[in-house]
Amino acid sequence: MQSTDQTQLVRRILFAGLMLIAAASIAAYALMSSPNKPAGLGEALVGGPFTMVNHKGETVTEKSFLGKPMLLFFGFTFCPDVCPTELQVMAAALDELGDKGMDIQPIFVSVDPERDTPEVMAAYVSNFGDRFIGLTGSAEQVAAIAGAYRIFYARQENKERPSDYLMDHSSIVYLMGPDGKFLKHFTYTTDAKALAQGIAEALQQPTVN
Ligand code: NI
Repeated sequence: MQSTDQTQLVRRILFAGLMLIAAASIAAYALMSSPNKPAGLGEALVGGPFTMVNHKGETVTEKSFLGKPMLLFFGFTFCPDVCPTELQVMAAALDELGDKGMDIQPIFVSVDPERDTPEVMAAYVSNFGDRFIGLTGSAEQVAAIAGAYRIFYARQENKERPSDYLMDHSSIVYLMGPDGKFLKHFTYTTDAKALAQGIAEALQQPTVN
């Protein structure tokens, strides 16, 4: 893509927006970590019920994954860099965990349901091994799950080639427990080894809630 002053400005504004989201995430995390938190507050902040369509075209909900820790990342298949990089890091972390991570379900959630049909998702997630599940759905379903997981996303139009629009999105990896409740989040800069270690530690802890 051409780098013009305008796209620079847009990028700066988006970066400022992402920084605000990061600050809000840290504040939310601090709130969840507080020993005086009211019961149930952590649960209310990240995660919850959803209804989506998996990469096989089947309707799934949060209940479909009960009993397995979920490792979730939100993005879009047309993403040039962040998404494929992070999905590779997640796959490498799961390899690193070996038997300890056998139950973990890695999930890629699309924030671009217009292009990311179940067929497109199926072809895409297969690039990262055979364990990933791709989730997509209607615009409303995607908005609902993104809201539940506090994921920001916004369409970035491409004037020359409208079909090549990009999606800006939060790049946070969430680890949810086998009960579906939030356990831990990881930032985009976490490498595979640190991610594997963080997951192992979080799964060893007795349930906090
Ligand atoms: Ni991306």
